[in-house]
Amino acid sequence: MTDLTDQKTAALAAINAADTLDALEEQRVAALGKKGWVSLALKTLGGMSPEERTQAAPAIQATRGEVADAIASRKAALESAALAQKLASETLDLTLPAPATKRGSVHPVSQVMDELAEIFADLGFSVATGPEIEDDWHNFTALNMDESHPARAMHDTFYFPDTNSDGNKMLLRTHTSPVQIRAMKADGAPIRIIAPGRVYRSDSDATHTPMFHQVEGLVIDKDIHLGHLKWTLETFLKAFFEREDIVLRLRPSYFPFTEPSVEVDVGYANTGGRRVVGGSGDDEGHDWMELLGSGMVNRRVLESAGVDPDEYQGFAFGVGVDRLAMLKYGMDDLRAFFDGDARWLSHYGFSPYDQPTLSAGVGVKP
Ligand code: PHE
Repeated sequence: MTDLTDQKTAALAAINAADTLDALEEQRVAALGKKGWVSLALKTLGGMSPEERTQAAPAIQATRGEVADAIASRKAALESAALAQKLASETLDLTLPAPATKRGSVHPVSQVMDELAEIFADLGFSVATGPEIEDDWHNFTALNMDESHPARAMHDTFYFPDTNSDGNKMLLRTHTSPVQIRAMKADGAPIRIIAPGRVYRSDSDATHTPMFHQVEGLVIDKDIHLGHLKWTLETFLKAFFEREDIVLRLRPSYFPFTEPSVEVDVGYANTGGRRVVGGSGDDEGHDWMELLGSGMVNRRVLESAGVDPDEYQGFAFGVGVDRLAMLKYGMDDLRAFFDGDARWLSHYGFSPYDQPTLSAGVGVKP
């Protein structure tokens, strides 16, 4: 019978001296691996007589147990030492102060667009889009303004020198109304959409810039009438300005693509910045700002877009987004919206954390 005592003593010493998990693994293989000395000793049991085996087996098994235990406890010790070292070296100091200045802010136009999407989503509208480089069929003709229509001249259009493959003149869209046509052609009726985006007109002063933003609204269904239009606009404007007492003025107007047509003004005062006012309606303490055009969709527009006007009718509106922003957040000059001046943005911009939600309030107090 082999005496394993010396081998065991040497192995236990080597195991306790192993200072890495790799070194320890080497020791495990040398003792307990397939060709390790403990395994080889166990194999000798097979060639023994039953008596010899009864005598020799307990010592070998005990040796195996001791070596395995020693490996396990060394392994635990090495692992906890490694963890302690990691914890000591990888610290994260949560008491570090936040950066002193806020970096970047959300432009008021983006903020207002998000607010509008939130308000109209609640009324069941989805968002549609169309191209800013448009052809004159979508921008004018399909909206009941053929080539010779005088209303075309009202739009101060930027034209491109070329025509498209259908021979249509190309232009920068002058309003978001062509999206009405595109949406109805794509989805038919009934339909309920808003279409926010940039529009372009050759015009510039304190309340006009050559590029500005509109949100188009379109509702087509059966039995839609002017009352639905009025309710929708009032509901939307009260939700947007977050006050019930805003002063609205609905004026009869003219657009080739709506009949009848209604323009909506809102009462505001200029107190170092234009802001909406509240009131009883006809008091003088305010000025009017034109906010939107609207009306019942002209049947010729429905025909152009492939919708049967004897079955479906509805209303449309186009709102000036920049003016909404101005009146809600009290800016004075529209041109500053597009100067890209970081000082203006840090004053009037919004935190990215101020997500408009109906439950928490669609507006933010800057
Ligand atoms: N497109 C018109 C404009 O830009 C606004 C409008 C939209 C009017 C929809 C009526 C219906 O002035």
